[in-house]
Amino acid sequence: MKTGIDKISFAIPARYFDLSALAAQRGIDPAKFSRGIGQDRFAMPEHDEDIVTLGAEAALPLLDASTKNQIDTLLFATESGLDQSKAAGIHVHHLLGLPARCRVVEMKQACYSATAALQLACAHVARRPERKVLVIAADVARYDLDGPAEATQGCGGVAMVVGADPAILALDPFSGCHTEDIYDFWRPPYRETPLVDGKFSALKYLQTLAHAWEAYQADGGRPHESFARICYHLPFSRMGEKAHRHLAGLAGVSAEAERLDPGLTYARDVGNCYSASLYLSLISTLDNSEEDLGGKAIGLFSYGSGAVGEMLSGEVQPGYRTHLLTERHRTMLAERKALSHSAYLDLWHGPRGAQGGEIILPQAARGTFRLARIHDHKREYTSRTPA
Ligand code: CAA
Repeated sequence: MKTGIDKISFAIPARYFDLSALAAQRGIDPAKFSRGIGQDRFAMPEHDEDIVTLGAEAALPLLDASTKNQIDTLLFATESGLDQSKAAGIHVHHLLGLPARCRVVEMKQACYSATAALQLACAHVARRPERKVLVIAADVARYDLDGPAEATQGCGGVAMVVGADPAILALDPFSGCHTEDIYDFWRPPYRETPLVDGKFSALKYLQTLAHAWEAYQADGGRPHESFARICYHLPFSRMGEKAHRHLAGLAGVSAEAERLDPGLTYARDVGNCYSASLYLSLISTLDNSEEDLGGKAIGLFSYGSGAVGEMLSGEVQPGYRTHLLTERHRTMLAERKALSHSAYLDLWHGPRGAQGGEIILPQAARGTFRLARIHDHKREYTSRTPA
C-alpha cells in the first residue's frame, strides 16, 4: 500500500526584512548575502504570531470536514517550542476544531523532527489506512543581532496531511539515517537565541549527507540519476547548492541545476524555517517545476543539528498538480510588505512584558489566527472565524 503526502501547504507572515537593507546597515556588499549565502529576504513574525499561528494557518486550507474527521493524530515538529511541558500542537488542535479523540504530541530534534514525524505518520496510516495524520512543522529562526547568522533568519509553518493512497507524494519504504553526538547548533532552555558554530555546522551537514546517502543506498535506495528533483534542508539556499554538488560528486554524476533550482525559489524569500525548511523546499519544487513531475522520483535530504540526517525519497503522484495550492502560496509571498530596519528590530526583540506572563497583543497578524494575550502565564489564541 502507498502512504505519503496527500495535501501540503505553508504559511508565512505578511512582512519581511530585505537583506539589501541589512547590507546597507552594515556597510557591506549586498552580494555577500544574495550570492554568498543565496538569500534575498527573511520572513519576520508579528508580535501576535508564533509557531502555533503559523502552523494552524498552514493547515487551515487542507482541512475539510471529512479530512478533519479522519485525522486521529497531530504531530507538531518544532525547535522553537513555547512551553517546556505543553505541546504547541494542542493550541492548534483547538484552533482547527480537530476531534477530541485526536492525539497530539510535539517532536524535537533541531531541523530534522518533521521528517521523523512524516515517517511515523506513514507507518501509522499503513496500519490504519482509513485514518489520517496531520504533520505540522513550524519554527521561528532568530539569531543574535550583528552576528554572521543574522542574515539566515526566517520563519514559517508547513502542514501535511499524511494518508494511504496519497494524492501528491508516495514515500518510499527505504531511507538512510545517520546520527552523531555533536554540538554544531544548539539552544539551552535559558537562551532565546541559539549557539552556533557556523562553519562546523556546514561541514557536519555535508558529512551527514554523505553518511545518509550511503545508508540510503545500503537500504535499497534509488540511484541518483532516477531523481527528477532533489530537495534539501535549506538553512540558506547556498547550502542547498553545496549539498547538491556534494551529493552528485558522491554518486559520480554531474550536479544539474534544473534538479535543484525550483526547490530554492521560496527559501530565498522566506529564510530558514528550521523544521519546515525541507518541506517548504518540497512545496517550492512542486509549485515551480514547469515539467509535470507525475510518476517521477524526488529525493529529500533532512538535516537537524546535533545531529541527525536522513535521506528519503518518494514518487510524485500523477495528477498531483490539481491538489497543490500554488496560487495561494504565490499570493502569500507577493502580498508581503518590507520592514524598515527599526520595525525589524522591534519585532526581533519581541513584545515587551511577555516574559512576565501578562501581556495583551494588538492585532497585527494577517491570518485567521493570532495570539491575543498571555495571561497568568497562559497563552490565549483567537481565530477570526470560529473553527
Ligand atoms: N559576494 C559574493 N560572495 C561573497 C561576498 C561577496 N561580496 N562576500 C562573501 N561571500 C561569500 C564567501 O566567499 C562565502 O562563500 P563560500 O561559502 O563559498 O566560502 C559565503 O559568502 C559566506 O561568507 P563567510 O564564509 O564569510 O561566512 P559568514 O560569516 O557569512 O557565515 C554561516 C556563514 C557560517 C553559514 C553563518 O550564516 C551561520 O552561522 N549560519 C547559521 C548556521 C547555519 O545555517 N549552518 C548551516 C548548516 S547547519 C543546519 O543546516 C541546521 C540549521 O538550520 C541551523
